[in-house]
This record gives sequence, structure tokens and C-alpha cells, in this order.
Amino acid sequence: MRIALGSDHAGFEAKELLIKALIKDGFTILDQGCFNTDSVDYPDFAKAVGKVVVEKHADGGVLICGTGIGMSIAANKVDGIRAALVTSTEHARLSKEHNNANVICMGARMQTVSEMKNFVDVWTKSKFEAGRHQQRINKIELK
Ligand code: RB5
Repeated sequence: MRIALGSDHAGFEAKELLIKALIKDGFTILDQGCFNTDSVDYPDFAKAVGKVVVEKHADGGVLICGTGIGMSIAANKVDGIRAALVTSTEHARLSKEHNNANVICMGARMQTVSEMKNFVDVWTKSKFEAGRHQQRINKIELK
């Protein structure tokens, strides 16, 4: 599975550790930055990851900022992205089963890297249930 990752400065260190753990597990990683702890603006990275996912270069996206909130707000502005703020394994599972989230957002100031890795594992292993959930997603995407 190909995952695009992005972070701002607050999420940079967590992103680096998460990438190492995901590569170890066989994921293909498309790192969209940032690439150090210099202060940056999270929407730039949310948009970069969103674009990679929408253009199908990646099967999903993972975004990390301090809280995960800014990244989720910004990523959801990209047409075709359903970004979920994930703070528990239940969120990770339901974001896929019910919302078919193609991006998950997490907060490096809220979760440990080990928790984040667990959320990514649960999200990638969960399956979209479609049916009534597909009908609801269609309504989100109506212009
Ligand atoms: C950066 O200090 C912080 O505001 C950002 O990482 C994020 O938490 C915003 O939602």
C-alpha cells in the first residue's frame, strides 16, 4: 500500500518516526514534507498530500500537525478528499468503515508515535462498508 505523508514543524519528528515504522512494515511512502523543524504553514502540506491522493499516486494520506485539527480542516478543502481527525482506534476503524476516509489526520502533541502507528494500521486494515454509507458520501460530494 502506498501512503503519502505530510506534516508541519510540530509533526515533523513524529512523521519521521512513523515513516520508519511504516517502511519496516512494507508500506511504500511518498513523503510530501516538511523536511525539518523550521516553522511552516500546515495547509501547504495538507494540500500536497491531498493532491497526491486525489491523483491516485497514493492509496491514502496521513497528515500530522500539533493537534491534527488544522490539517483536517485544510485537507477537506481538496476536492475528493475525505479527511478524518483520528484520536482513537475506534475513530481509525470507523473513519474507513463509514466515511471511507482517504486521509487521516493526527496530532503529535496529542498522541504518541506508537498510538499513531496503531491508528494507521487499523485504518489501512479496515474496509469501507459501502451501502447506506456510500449514499451519504455521495451527498457530501454533491456540488
Ligand atoms: C502549530 O503551532 C500548530 O498550530 C499546528 O501544528 C496545528 O496544531 C494546527 O492545527
